[in-house]
Amino acid sequence: MIRKYEIVGLEARQIFDSRGNPTIECTVTVGKGKGTAMAPSGASTGKYEAVELRDGGKAYDGKGVNQAVRNIDTIIAPTLTGMDVREQEEIDRELIQLDGTENKGNLGANTTTVVSLACCRAAANAKEVELYEHISHISHQWEHKVPVPFFNVINGGAHAGNKLAVQEFMIVPKTTKFKQSMKIGVEVYHTLEKLVEKKYGKSASNVGDEGGFAPMINKTEDALKMLMKALKTRGYDKKVFISMDVAASEFYKGRQYHIDGKKLNKEKMIKYYEDLIKKYPIINIEDPFQEEDFKAFAKLTEETDVQITGDDLFVTNVDRIKQGIQARACNALLLKVNQIGTLSESIQAARMAQHAGYKVMVSHRSGETSDPFIADLAVGIGAEQIKSGAPCRSERLVKYNRLLEIEKHGIKYIGWF
Ligand code: PGA
Ligand code: ZN
Repeated sequence: MIRKYEIVGLEARQIFDSRGNPTIECTVTVGKGKGTAMAPSGASTGKYEAVELRDGGKAYDGKGVNQAVRNIDTIIAPTLTGMDVREQEEIDRELIQLDGTENKGNLGANTTTVVSLACCRAAANAKEVELYEHISHISHQWEHKVPVPFFNVINGGAHAGNKLAVQEFMIVPKTTKFKQSMKIGVEVYHTLEKLVEKKYGKSASNVGDEGGFAPMINKTEDALKMLMKALKTRGYDKKVFISMDVAASEFYKGRQYHIDGKKLNKEKMIKYYEDLIKKYPIINIEDPFQEEDFKAFAKLTEETDVQITGDDLFVTNVDRIKQGIQARACNALLLKVNQIGTLSESIQAARMAQHAGYKVMVSHRSGETSDPFIADLAVGIGAEQIKSGAPCRSERLVKYNRLLEIEKHGIKYIGWF
């Protein structure tokens, strides 16, 4: 007899992400019900991230995932069949062992991620509980709150065709309800759209990969000034903080940071950030330095009182996070499941960061799908913050919309304070 939680089969398919690149969808069937997940994909990927498996060759410019799909059907499915889908750690341990590499290079982190997430959703469905409730159970996190959204409204770096070095300019509303934060987010977004069109022309309001505007702005401060103007126009300048994902590894060349038409060393970069923090209501800077420089991260964390978040620095990897905690680099972790390749390892990463007093920000990738998984993930693991791009493009909004639903269920909003 097949038991309710017993995995009876896995089925994978090649689908397409928000950039039109192939990605994987996987459905896990259990005795009672099933669960489906889709794999996201980054563009400004960290050097130490687990790696995706792509087919290579001519088709889809080498980005096909047929081998990854075959890995699920022929290697992973026979191994996981018969297991109890509620045992996430055991499932993920099997995936790690089957792969056998440090960076998921054999099966592919896209493959292991999608299987890991689909199992989690199948378990929640079979248990007939909300996904965040099941995640809360497997991560032993009993207090859940709706996290603060970071809306990425101006795109640069690897996500846009302009000359902005900084990859993301985000707005962070200070409110007591997630619903109110959404209202401020979309209102500022639409005001910004008008300002961008006025200054850079109608076509300048085309959006970048994460739904933010990507006009031909060259300098960091020009983007910040435009953002402040949008906030003032709406009367929100005292109600909204600003956050930046610098993604500095992308413009670190020949031991210098190439930004705003200048070449700055790390000491000058620290001064650069300190000046910006004085002038603008900045509360968070992600990846202010290249991904090897724990010392520079530590110095900025020490010298300023804003949140310093490690993304490419930590890559959701407990070894790198341990190194960061020892070096006192950062006070927040950016968490992306596909940077490490399984849900259990991501939960471990969050735990380690939380124990060290770091905040956790759950993140989408620049290549996304209609899967809202990260909304439930953030609530379930007790993350304080989430970034899922602009309040524009459905692959971004599907996560924010799910959080609206969760708040409506009666889960409290964490707020910034
Ligand atoms: P990515 O960008 O998904 O292209 O890596 C997101 C980020 O850097 O935070
Ligand atoms: Zn980042």
